[in-house]
Amino acid sequence: MQPLARDKRPFHFGTNFKMNQTPAETARFLADLAPRLNQNRVPETVRLFVIPPFTSLPMAIAARETAGLTSRVWIGAQNVHWATEGAYTGEISVPMLTSIGVDLVLLGHAERRGLFGETDEALAKKVPAALVAGLQVLLCVGETAEEKAFGVGPETVTRQLKIALHDVGNEALSRLLIGYEPVWSIGAGGTPARPQDVMETVVPLRHALTEKFGAAGQNVPILYGGSVAPDNCGDFVTLEEIDGLFVGRAAWQVEGFERVLQAALVARGDIRGDAD
Ligand code: 13P
Repeated sequence: MQPLARDKRPFHFGTNFKMNQTPAETARFLADLAPRLNQNRVPETVRLFVIPPFTSLPMAIAARETAGLTSRVWIGAQNVHWATEGAYTGEISVPMLTSIGVDLVLLGHAERRGLFGETDEALAKKVPAALVAGLQVLLCVGETAEEKAFGVGPETVTRQLKIALHDVGNEALSRLLIGYEPVWSIGAGGTPARPQDVMETVVPLRHALTEKFGAAGQNVPILYGGSVAPDNCGDFVTLEEIDGLFVGRAAWQVEGFERVLQAALVARGDIRGDAD
């Protein structure tokens, strides 16, 4: 596979609802999104995704179809188990997700790692299991404030990446996305990263991807996430190695989703701003 030039790499944009939104609220979000995409002339090439809680997934998939967004918006789950079935109380398997039409699964989010003890070793089983079954995988990596202070951010994320992708082959690569989310930048107490913080970490990530997958590793999208908002998203989307944004709070309401998306597309030069 040849590496794609930067301007040929699709832009990815989506939100993680975390533990927010009932099924009805999720359906309303998708119904309200469709006219806004048309109004803002969001190019069809932009890959959008929404990752609601498990309970919202069936409703989200139905609402997406009703809104005419099936080919434009991936619906994702926030976690998955590596086994296809078994005595794993409280877990959800890959076939359970694919059987209802889920497109994507988020794995390794900082909150799962930090609050629920998800390990790199568990991710090394989850990532290939989901990819092999045909799901898109958004694998998140990120260093803590302490790791950054000790100067080991780049090796921390590279280590997370290498372990999670240990058993992934080139055949599944077109379904893999990486989310770089510094732990210190996520959530209400987070500080948005500076462009130099992002470059310092994503350049080694890209290097690790090409080392493992060859030239095809250049095409794996790397998204930035962590306190992304309309006024800072332009700093990230104009960086050479960044192929998208992964947004939390600022995009939980459809108005916010629209505002950040629009600001990002204007900064990229994909659409014109109001002042133009
Ligand atoms: P915030 O944008 O709220 O910081 O969350 C980012 C995130 O964790 C997305 O998964």
